[in-house]
Amino acid sequence: MAKLSKSLYVCQACGATATRWAGKCAACDGWNTLVEETDAGPPPGSGVTRQSKGRIVKLETLKGSTQEAPRFSSGISELDRVTGGGVVPGSTILIGGEPGIGKSTLLLQVAAHLARRGGKSIYFSGEEAVAQVRLRAERLGLADAQVGLASETNLSNILATLGDDRPADLVIIDSIQTLWADTLDAAPGTVSQVRAAAQALIRYAKMAGSVLLLVGHVTKDGQIAGPKVIEHMVDTVLYFEGDRGLSYRILRAVKNRFGPSDEIGVFEMVTGGLQEVANPSELFLGDRDGVSPGAAVFAGIEGTRPLLVEIQALVAPSGLGTPRRAVVGWDSNRLAMLLAVLDARCGVSFAGHDVYLNVAGGLKITEPAADLAAAAALLSSISGVALPRDAVYFGEVSLSGAVRAAAMMTTRLKEASKLGFGQAFLPESGDADATGLKLSLSRVAHLKSLAGATAPCD
Ligand code: TYD
Ligand code: MG
Repeated sequence: MAKLSKSLYVCQACGATATRWAGKCAACDGWNTLVEETDAGPPPGSGVTRQSKGRIVKLETLKGSTQEAPRFSSGISELDRVTGGGVVPGSTILIGGEPGIGKSTLLLQVAAHLARRGGKSIYFSGEEAVAQVRLRAERLGLADAQVGLASETNLSNILATLGDDRPADLVIIDSIQTLWADTLDAAPGTVSQVRAAAQALIRYAKMAGSVLLLVGHVTKDGQIAGPKVIEHMVDTVLYFEGDRGLSYRILRAVKNRFGPSDEIGVFEMVTGGLQEVANPSELFLGDRDGVSPGAAVFAGIEGTRPLLVEIQALVAPSGLGTPRRAVVGWDSNRLAMLLAVLDARCGVSFAGHDVYLNVAGGLKITEPAADLAAAAALLSSISGVALPRDAVYFGEVSLSGAVRAAAMMTTRLKEASKLGFGQAFLPESGDADATGLKLSLSRVAHLKSLAGATAPCD
């Protein structure tokens, strides 16, 4: 008698499985996330049968003659930067981002650039019809590039198409959530479908030495939708982010098996598609007026690249019992900490005031070294005294109010000097070499001394 396929309930939020349906997932406490999926065995094309007995594999040593991963340029230097110097054949890159942010545009540009340099690129669109992709290519001036294009969502058809001809250098799947394997009984976009499709495609990419680019949707809370599971399976995870009202887009690496994972690439969305921004500091400081109180320029580092960005604070008397604290582009816990330190260590109280903090340009800053710049902006706003127009700030503030050294201080100073800044407020400790730079350095040991310069302080 044929064995019946087993029914499983899979949480669409965290991927946990259960044998019975329940209203609430026991693993992630998500409500109404369990969906019945039939476990119909291994995905197609895996060459594995359910009863396979297993063979003995040869164990290797750590030392060997494996070469550094070969890379090739994607033709878009900001993407190369984020992937650690170029894409690696056989690797899989997952690009997540909100709808309309520009994922399809970016990938079409990558496919066309590679095709123009003689590579073979294939673009499977599960979301748009061929005519729509063609229209976009036309608008971007890429219609002449030899990109293989198909509107297809059936996994077996995609694998058959890929296996039919010489291996492709680049395979794009837009998006992984639209694919479905006909051996599985679940709807497209469910955990088991996405997992099966990703597995089969990754296997193909490894075998054929193709670069596989998968598009993944993100949910409201910014995770790649449902299947966190595929983040574990792929080599590189990139997030494409930005404020839709602004034209900047930031491609951020959050996982990279072949390079650093804190690098960002900056693009600008123009009518001709996504344009690379080689010097993002100029862009982020572009429309700064610099004379009003509450604005401080932070000399930050994103990955290996220095990035100057303006931090704006607004402190206003509050009519509310519990004053508002709102943050855009920064961590609200860090703002709370900074306000507490300013109160306890410098005697500057923000009680009875609403505090708003904004990182200009739609950038998200995670570096602790932004503390000093945020503190300077807050002090400037509460005292109503504008900061010097040509000053930059960086340094991490500890709970005692001491300012700690930051990484790559010399690189930050060089960038500030290059962009015409004349003063830098930086931690007292740590090596910073400003020889040859037209920059006056003000070393700050404790937040108190900064507070003393801008606001009344004990
Ligand atoms: P798209 O790549 O379709 O986004 P995603 O695949 O992430 O959903 O991008 C669509 C947006 O980009 C749309 O709002 C229009 C804008 N856009 C431009 O501004 N210029 C262009 O040249 C193109 C092709 C799109
Ligand atoms: Mg799209």
